[in-house]
Amino acid sequence: MAADTPAPDAPALPVWIAQSPESRRLLEVVAKVANTASTVLILGESGSGKDQLAHRLHFESPRRHQPMVKIDCASLPAELIESELFGYEKGAFTGAYQAKPGRLELAGEGTLVLDEIAALSLPLQAKLLRVIEEKSFERLGGHSPIRIAARLVALTNVDLEQAVARHSFREDLYYRLFVLPLHIPPLRERRDDILPTAEHFLATLAAPGRAQVQMDAALRRGLREYDYPGNTRELRNLLSRALIWSQKSELGLEDMPAYVAQAGTAQPADKTLRQMEKEHIAAVLQRCRGRKQQAAAVLGISPKTLLEKRRRYGLDLPWTDRLPEGTFTRSRRPAKPQPSPAPGREPEPDR
Ligand SMILES: Nc1ncnc2c1ncn2[C@@H]1O[C@H](COP(=O)(O)OP(=O)(O)O)[C@@H](O)[C@H]1O
Ligand SMILES: [Mg+2]
Repeated sequence: MAADTPAPDAPALPVWIAQSPESRRLLEVVAKVANTASTVLILGESGSGKDQLAHRLHFESPRRHQPMVKIDCASLPAELIESELFGYEKGAFTGAYQAKPGRLELAGEGTLVLDEIAALSLPLQAKLLRVIEEKSFERLGGHSPIRIAARLVALTNVDLEQAVARHSFREDLYYRLFVLPLHIPPLRERRDDILPTAEHFLATLAAPGRAQVQMDAALRRGLREYDYPGNTRELRNLLSRALIWSQKSELGLEDMPAYVAQAGTAQPADKTLRQMEKEHIAAVLQRCRGRKQQAAAVLGISPKTLLEKRRRYGLDLPWTDRLPEGTFTRSRRPAKPQPSPAPGREPEPDR
């Protein structure tokens, strides 16, 4: 980070395109969490935006003018992580010809990001836990405690709960980190973000001077339907490649690899049960104009179950906000009788 030439005004806020309700809620939470000093855990599949969100968190916090320092626990060997994290005194080990501060120290009163936290070895997890609890540490070979002023942000694409069950992650550290979890859903579970994010990438990745590249209807449909195992990073790469290969002012499906082009014509059989359920519930809620009792009846589930599913799928939208004035006036539209489910008609999802 260019710390030597501080701009007179605030540093630019990292872009986080948020069109879907899931992303918007995430941004709201980030804004709140930013003002605390608490340790934060960001969970999400690879490419879903954990780094980007960590930047956003830092820049929205009062620490924005302090350093943001990162350490990748997956790409460094264990011995190196320890000395990189804690630093060392001269002579701490063979080759330590002079003292060196660790990243915990370099982060000062800023933010220290621990990327891929699940890759940390068990002994280092124990050490990190002690550091978090005592809020201080010593350089390797050192004896004077150094207070930690930085906020810790841990990132993971591994289900830590499962890692705890497998005994590869310490339960006590898990609970220490899980104080403020921010879960980024995979891109395929927040499809409303896809096209605005694609537009953002087309604007920022195009060669300087090139006019804003558009997407034709087929490409829009294809991009919205595709499942993005690599999440937002994959979307970025797809568009970046298309911008290089095609000089057209409007990109089409033919500018995408065949597997993306096929997504637009995917059969329901290609979707997961979870995805189908989410889409079906969203469609019914939409059709019932947000009347939850009615939607529950159509779906053949109890209003309580519907509430649970809406929460799980991020469908707890303020539906009424989207409707034109007067939608909920007493003069009901001619009620289409909805079949109320016979007891025990609840659809059995596992087949
Ligand atoms: N909501 C978003 N808005 C704009 N760009 C995003 C968003 N989420 C992710 N990105 C971009 O997608 C790419 C992958 O994000 P990154 O934070 O590196 O993912 P992760 O750390 O989860 O693997 C980066 O180029 C990042 O800037
Ligand atoms: Mg990352």
